[in-house]
Amino acid sequence: MSEPFYITTPIYYVNARPHLGHAYTTIVADVACRFHSMSKVETFFLTGTDEHGDKVVRAAKKESLSPRKYVDKISGLFRALWPELNIRNSYFIRTTDASHIAIVEQVMQKIYDSGDIYFSEYQGLYCFGCERFYTEREHVDGKCPDHETELELIEESNYFFKMSRYQNWLIDHIKNNPYFITPERYKNEVLSFLKEPLDDLCISRPKKRLKWGITLPFDKNFVIYVWFDALLNYVSALQYPDGDLFKTFWPYVQHIVGKDILKPHGIYWPIMLKAAGIPVYKQLYVHGYWNVDQSKMSKSIGNVVEPLQLINVYGLDTFRYFLMREMVFGLDSSFSEKALIQRINSDLANDLGNLFSRVLTMVHKYFSGVVPQVDTRVEKELRLGLKSDALKTIDKFEKNMKAFAFHKALIAIWELIGRMNKYIDLTTPWVLAKKKSSRKQLEVVIYNLLESLRIMSGLIYPIMPGTAEIMQKHLGMNPQKPFYHLDTLKTWKTILPGTNLPKSITLFPRIDLKNDGGPSSVVRYLVSEPPAIKSEINLETLNKVDLRVATVVRAEAVPRSKKLLKLEVDLGKRRTIVAGISEDYAPEDLVGKQVIIVANLKPAKLMGILSKGMLLAATDEERCTVATLDKKVKPGTPLS
Ligand code: MSP
Repeated sequence: MSEPFYITTPIYYVNARPHLGHAYTTIVADVACRFHSMSKVETFFLTGTDEHGDKVVRAAKKESLSPRKYVDKISGLFRALWPELNIRNSYFIRTTDASHIAIVEQVMQKIYDSGDIYFSEYQGLYCFGCERFYTEREHVDGKCPDHETELELIEESNYFFKMSRYQNWLIDHIKNNPYFITPERYKNEVLSFLKEPLDDLCISRPKKRLKWGITLPFDKNFVIYVWFDALLNYVSALQYPDGDLFKTFWPYVQHIVGKDILKPHGIYWPIMLKAAGIPVYKQLYVHGYWNVDQSKMSKSIGNVVEPLQLINVYGLDTFRYFLMREMVFGLDSSFSEKALIQRINSDLANDLGNLFSRVLTMVHKYFSGVVPQVDTRVEKELRLGLKSDALKTIDKFEKNMKAFAFHKALIAIWELIGRMNKYIDLTTPWVLAKKKSSRKQLEVVIYNLLESLRIMSGLIYPIMPGTAEIMQKHLGMNPQKPFYHLDTLKTWKTILPGTNLPKSITLFPRIDLKNDGGPSSVVRYLVSEPPAIKSEINLETLNKVDLRVATVVRAEAVPRSKKLLKLEVDLGKRRTIVAGISEDYAPEDLVGKQVIIVANLKPAKLMGILSKGMLLAATDEERCTVATLDKKVKPGTPLS
């Protein structure tokens, strides 16, 4: 019996709705898990949501919800999406689960007791977006390399994890276990990072700054740094330390992550495990990023691809196939509807779909839908190697699937499709059907084609489980029996002669590519929709709003406020306005800028400051962008 298989995805942040990137990682895990079930291996597949931290609190505020209500809502979206994508995770973990919290506390205490955590004064540059400090080496001119925002100097006492103590151990471990981090490029990335001395990791946040987290078991004034809490989901879901699941599956754990979170998984996590006395994971698989039409997927560009919208238009298995075929695991890839449609039309409708209906149509035309008998003597005469090609395809498929080379596994299947089409051309069943004397040959040809299709239906099962089931039903297989088990697949002559087969169907309808590949209507559809337009007003009402151009003369943060900036603006005369933009603008970014303000809005007090007017800005899910003009004009000029 082969080793059990435990696969995990990252647990996703609940500050955004699920998108193509999340779907890809989770589908990869599902494909890998289904592939292992083909060898009758015991499997456990974990996914879930990461629900603590500052980002969540801010996202909840934006929706005027309590953090609890907010995390329930977004976590629910993830949980509900996976069955829609035919993803069969064994468990869905949430970091707000009481059982997870208890295990995190236990592990933290264990690491603390072993002396790897110390308390210290700290002054450092902090990014609120990443929820972490940046070291001298990491930041770029005082800015966060990811968010490109100014880092803030924070001075506070915190708890630190002695990562430095384990640096040499980790380097040796990676070098002695060549497949610990794969593909190779990511292993090299981690090793090159480890050439520099590792800084100790700040693993607490004072409660006066952040409450939405798990309290440190040894100091009630602090919560645990969100990554320390999140990474432990991989063991808490198995009920570490005594659960049966932990005993069965932990030694075989394989993590899948995107390249964005290589460092926490390639460095923090193995060191945390080592420090806590838990055996380190078996393997880390790192994949690249999906861009959309060559650009980075981002809410502000509005090109975030939502899986449900996509599968409603193009179908689920086609989407799963596209993701697995198009991306070389480990490298970046670009998603476009045009590429998706092309794959559907050529690989699925033309190649697989046509072959399937071609063979089934022949069974109905020549044998009234009944699987023919095979005369072994004739079979030997007709040796054209289809059987051995089909069986070799299984081997190639297995080898590539094990190595996460999904695209190569699919290429191997498609080579078999090509081989089967050639077999039909060589044996010319339509000619054999004309003469009674070649009837037995026709039987063998059709039977071999049916058997090859049966193997194919099993091989596509992990990637397109729905299509695989439809195929096997049409091939007269018992739907109760797992047709996809590798030992069944490898048993030639599984389809019983004499079985009545249903009429052929179209597995994949072709999709018309409108405008010769230009954006079809669905592209627009994929872009998350802006809010509905408000009800109409007349010109008279509009003219009541006095919009003016104003130059920002001075800007400063409002004390004790995270969002507000106090601006002194010139619109002919000077006046003060308060704007909630400090999460996205530093005061010095604004001085000298010409902005647009509603000049006749009734003054209002904000944090004790009288604001005489309102600054116009566009706020989407990601950031707020101040409205400006494309040329300088005289301050005070009205807008009409
Ligand atoms: N919560 C952390 C992970 C903690 S795991 C202990 C986190 N969450 S996340 O919501 O940001 O998810 C990141 C992961 O989503 C990536 O590692 C990747 O698996 C997936 N993707 C998000 N965007 C992606 C693309 N554009 N392309 C491919 N996958 C990406 O990080």
